[in-house]
Amino acid sequence: MLTIAILGCGSRGRTYSRFAASLPDRYEIVAACDLVESRAREVSCHGKGQAAPVFLNDRDFFAAGKLADLVVIATQDRDHYSHASQAIALGYDILLEKPAAQTLEECEDLDRQARAAGVKIGLCFVLRYTPFYRTVKAVVDSGRLGTIISIHASEGVEPYHQAHSFVRGHWAKSADSTPMILAKCSHDADLFCWLANSEIRKIASYGGLEFFRKENAPVGAPERCSDGCPHSQECIYDAHRYLTDKRSWLRMVLDGAETASDEDIKKFINTSPWGRCVFHCDNDVVDHQVIAGEMLNGITINFTMTAFDFGRSMEIYGTRGVLKGGHAWRSANAFELSIRDHASGQTTEIPVEHPDESEYAGHGGGDFGIVDSLDRLFGEKGSLPPGLDGLAGHRLALLAEQSRMMEKP
Ligand SMILES: NC(=O)c1ccc[n+]([C@@H]2O[C@H](COP(=O)([O-])OP(=O)(O)OC[C@H]3O[C@@H](n4cnc5c(N)ncnc54)[C@H](O)[C@@H]3O)[C@@H](O)[C@H]2O)c1
Repeated sequence: MLTIAILGCGSRGRTYSRFAASLPDRYEIVAACDLVESRAREVSCHGKGQAAPVFLNDRDFFAAGKLADLVVIATQDRDHYSHASQAIALGYDILLEKPAAQTLEECEDLDRQARAAGVKIGLCFVLRYTPFYRTVKAVVDSGRLGTIISIHASEGVEPYHQAHSFVRGHWAKSADSTPMILAKCSHDADLFCWLANSEIRKIASYGGLEFFRKENAPVGAPERCSDGCPHSQECIYDAHRYLTDKRSWLRMVLDGAETASDEDIKKFINTSPWGRCVFHCDNDVVDHQVIAGEMLNGITINFTMTAFDFGRSMEIYGTRGVLKGGHAWRSANAFELSIRDHASGQTTEIPVEHPDESEYAGHGGGDFGIVDSLDRLFGEKGSLPPGLDGLAGHRLALLAEQSRMMEKP
């Protein structure tokens, strides 16, 4: 039995605790902490039997000492370094929401602290635990593609998702959270290192914020969608879509979204950051970025992140074959994967299980997958070594951002 404390009971903390509660023979939630009492209480009730103790701020939580084998830290990006440092000092193993910290120095420091204390930190790289990427990893490790020469990947954030999270939302301003390449694409950066089984040696990156800017506002667009915008009928970013086809996105940002009435949602649109015109926000993170790099073992990588596509795709070029796959456009959770063998010229479709979950909460099955793996990672004979697992991917992303910010020809 692995005992778990949850620090930060928002969208992510709630998701992990719900999945942990669905495996009561293996996990027990023994403490919950959030500044918002209702969130902490909801998560505390995911414990076995009676509700687990609740803490209403991080000071009280850490002052109570080590309460569990593992602490899940799912507070916001800017608090991760401090919260993880305090958890290490108490000897907690940690499942830490990505990004681990806001700078490379802080990430490396967490790794040092964790090694010194014999503490394991796993980052929430939930994609590693999806049926799709598990299959890709198994194919690469099997040698079926021969020696891997290069990897290409792309991530289409999808325009409304970009608007919700990276224009209007929590991750719109780099200084408040982290640059887009870490906030959103740390998964992809991790996958490069995980699949190549290597670390970055050289990297270059370009990109910027092109579209979600004031000068692109259609004529007469007011500050908020609810201020009588003349473009609301045709604008794909109209916040009133939270009342209709984008309603499911509210559960990440509106307490009680599942039971909210239309009136509650209209009030949310009228008053919250998520009702602002996407061209009149204070966002500064990029809406497109590319990376080209070379890993220590010689594998070259390239990556495109864009707001204006949907889903991830990946191509892995090996000396014996090539793998191509990614999201199928027909459904948010459908994936396609095929391998072409150079010798025979034959292409084989590889079946991938399609988890039946909503896009964000499920991450293609990865949210459940990582919880299901917690005892194998952190249990008595857990496979994670002390230190910050996933540091290599963060280094790749943060070096890419440094390169993007440099003046280059
Ligand atoms: N792994 C992934 O794929 C993935 C996906 C989305 C978000 N995230 C990351 O997960 C983290 C949480 O995101 P979220 O969407 O759940 O955000 P959220 O805002 O819904 O949840 C954060 C919670 O932390 C609480 N909190 C803040 N400061 C606190 C403090 N000092 N003490 C106690 N509680 C505190 C807030 O009240 C809130 O309930 C972020 O760092 C985000 O970048 C990861």
